[in-house]
Amino acid sequence: LARGVEAPDLAGRHVVVSAGGTREPLDPVRYLGNRSSGKQGYALARTAAARGARVTLVEANTGMPDPAGVDVVHVGTAVQLREAVLKAAADADAVVMAAAVADFRPATYAEGKIKKKDGVEAPVVTLVRNPDILAEISADRARPGQVIVGFAAETDDVLANGRDKLRRKGCDLLVVNEVGENRTFGAEVNEAVVLSADGGETPVPHGPKEALADTVWDLVVPRLA
Ligand code: CTP
Ligand code: CA
Repeated sequence: LARGVEAPDLAGRHVVVSAGGTREPLDPVRYLGNRSSGKQGYALARTAAARGARVTLVEANTGMPDPAGVDVVHVGTAVQLREAVLKAAADADAVVMAAAVADFRPATYAEGKIKKKDGVEAPVVTLVRNPDILAEISADRARPGQVIVGFAAETDDVLANGRDKLRRKGCDLLVVNEVGENRTFGAEVNEAVVLSADGGETPVPHGPKEALADTVWDLVVPRLA
């Protein structure tokens, strides 16, 4: 752990963390995916367990072994991730959506491998929108006082985009990362600002993903019902 805690301040609490990146299948051999490693979500799960929480980790395509002392649910697609998160969130005190959820999925799944055909140009893939899980669980809380945390990877005006997203999603906290080449994806370290719905802004200096995870839990604990 990046930092010890004096008291197990999440003891008696159930927290749900989603981690990794969803994959949306096109045919039996292909999918649309993203570059999320899942490391930040795993750090959140490990630190919550170390602080005494019962942890449900909803994992999508990370390839990492299950952390000790954590209940892990393995999923593939955004639709599966939504189902697992909604189920686990029913009795959760806090939900942290660290997973990169595909915004779109192919409108159809080809049962057989899509083949090249002589004289036919490349096929057009039609996409449809996936459900917005964070917006849904924030608008329709499974429990009064449940604390909900989102993540956002932004470019350009990172803070303004983050404020906007926090409002749109309706969550309590939003961890905003600046992304670009060689930043965040797959790295062991992270740098972020945590925005809160009550106007707060907590900068987290460049450091291990455990340190950011502990800062998230430090901000969640006083907000718990
Ligand atoms: N998220 C979600 N369901 C989706 C997409 C995103 O729950 N279908 C969650 C992510 O887990 C993350 C937060 O929403 O915690 C922000 O994701 P992001 O992709 O930044 O937000 P979007 O609303 O999809 O905005 P953008 O158009 O910038 O991708
Ligand atoms: Ca998105």
